[in-house]
Amino acid sequence: MRPLIAGNWKMNGTGDCLPEIAAIAQRAEQTSRAEVLICPPFTLVSRAVAAAGGRIAIGGQDCHAKPSGAFTGDVSAEMLADAGASAIIVGHSERRRYHAETDSIVAAKATAAWRAGLLGIVCIGESEGEHDAGRAQEVVAAQLGASLPAGATSTNVVIAYEPVWAIGSGRTPGDDAITGMHRFIRAKLRERFGEEASRMRILYGGSVKPSNARVILALPDVNGALVGGASLRAGEFLTILQSVPQVEAR
Ligand code: PGA
Repeated sequence: MRPLIAGNWKMNGTGDCLPEIAAIAQRAEQTSRAEVLICPPFTLVSRAVAAAGGRIAIGGQDCHAKPSGAFTGDVSAEMLADAGASAIIVGHSERRRYHAETDSIVAAKATAAWRAGLLGIVCIGESEGEHDAGRAQEVVAAQLGASLPAGATSTNVVIAYEPVWAIGSGRTPGDDAITGMHRFIRAKLRERFGEEASRMRILYGGSVKPSNARVILALPDVNGALVGGASLRAGEFLTILQSVPQVEAR
């Protein structure tokens, strides 16, 4: 399966950043190692699509579950599709935390992404307290079960495992811990989706940077990365992209 390297710009970026998108798009086209997706703020989506020129995909960071209506300040999956997006991140821990998004809200948003014909990137991951209490697998299993709607396939969904304590902290789990959790997620997917699960991509996210990308991206059952901070600088993001093992070697 083709790895996916996705950049989550969070609430960063204005029109000044469009040359970064163009640079990433140009260089990414020259390496066929992975699919590349950048998720800028809503305000940049259509301009990012133009800057990318079809060479990389552009996505949104969230959407409302409904296609339209009286939801001031919200953006629907259909609107993102109209702006040229091809994917939407749903259930990022910052949405769960700052916007009180529950697993069922996340599942509704994933369904909305599919309704609009977009890829849903469903984020799951344990908090630091849950990790320290040895509850990571239990929490991840519960989130996965309730955030991922029936009907998930390898073409409409990507799972992003992001331990909350690793996001923006510079800390990452050990290699064995990442492998163990990705294997666990794969096994849970297999219980629900059978053979299709072996084709579903499971990204790792949380402090992925040029210095650790090569090792993380080569781990078993890691099918790419969701990159926050390091996706804001084209040079770092491209180094991460170049750290993806050649497809033949996987
Ligand atoms: P980070 O963020 O790479 O800055 O840790 C990852 C994310 O939140 O998706």
